[in-house]
Amino acid sequence: MKRIKIWDLPTRIFHWSMVCLVVAAFVSVQIGGNAMVWHGRFGVALLGLLAFRLTWGLVGSTYARFMTFVRGPQTILAYLRGQWRGVGHNPLGALSVLGLLSVLVAQGLTGLFANDDIAFQGPYAVLVSTDTSTWITGLHKTNVWLLGFLIATHLGAIAFYARVKHDNLVKPMLLGYKEVEGEEFKSAAGGGWLALLVAVLIGLGAWWLANGGLAERLAPPPPAAAAPLF
Ligand code: HEM
Ligand code: HEM
Repeated sequence: MKRIKIWDLPTRIFHWSMVCLVVAAFVSVQIGGNAMVWHGRFGVALLGLLAFRLTWGLVGSTYARFMTFVRGPQTILAYLRGQWRGVGHNPLGALSVLGLLSVLVAQGLTGLFANDDIAFQGPYAVLVSTDTSTWITGLHKTNVWLLGFLIATHLGAIAFYARVKHDNLVKPMLLGYKEVEGEEFKSAAGGGWLALLVAVLIGLGAWWLANGGLAERLAPPPPAAAAPLF
């Protein structure tokens, strides 16, 4: 047995901040009313965080990279037959990771154009008609079911690994390292300070955009004041 590093600190911070923000988004929408402003803030922060993770998937350390864990159907079948050996996200789990990330991005983006029928609307709802905003709100609400399903599957898989396979996946996601058997497995490498800076800047840029950074510039001009009759 040897101990290797699999999840770098940025990936771990990403995961647990995302969990907190998703919970906060669910709680704030249940409270409703004035808490909707917070729902929007949590959702916008999530979009920034997701942009960070998508960039980190390209420039981050070994096991955080999409190139490392996103595999074709052959590898997924081999995994299902018990013929896959590796560390990090397994080939099937990778599908769940991609699913969770895409569904969360869709949730955040639709939220930007949504409205709550009362006083709150996403920062880009001004760009579309009320009917379109209501339609997009419907998508935002329906997508919640998909998100709930994926989160439940995610937690179910982690419980399955812990109870049936006696493999604790949570500890590495907290501490970063894992005990593995096999000389071929190496600690994660790459994802240095420059990569981190790029990913953080892209995350901050996405947060600024999602927060309505361009809404005023893109919004149609207000209708001209009616000319006086006399
Ligand atoms: C809002 C709920 C959650 C969401 C949306 C979520 C989403 C994700 C995503 C997207 C990943 C991939 C991480 C990456 O590569 O960046 C992941 C991995 C992981 N999550 Fe969660 N997660 C949630 C809750 C939890 C909770 C409550 C736990 C602990 C009980 C947990 C434990 C893990 C573990 C252990 C991994 C690594 C799995 C592996 O080894 O392949 N997650 N999660
Ligand atoms: C990825 C992050 C987000 C999550 C997880 C999330 C989650 C939810 C949930 C669970 C609901 C309630 C659905 C229902 O009642 O059936 C909801 C509604 C809503 N969300 Fe989000 N949301 C997110 C992002 C956003 C963003 C960024 C905004 C706007 C800035 C937004 C604006 C709204 C609005 C206006 C509603 C409708 C509330 C109502 O009609 O009562 N959401 N969202």
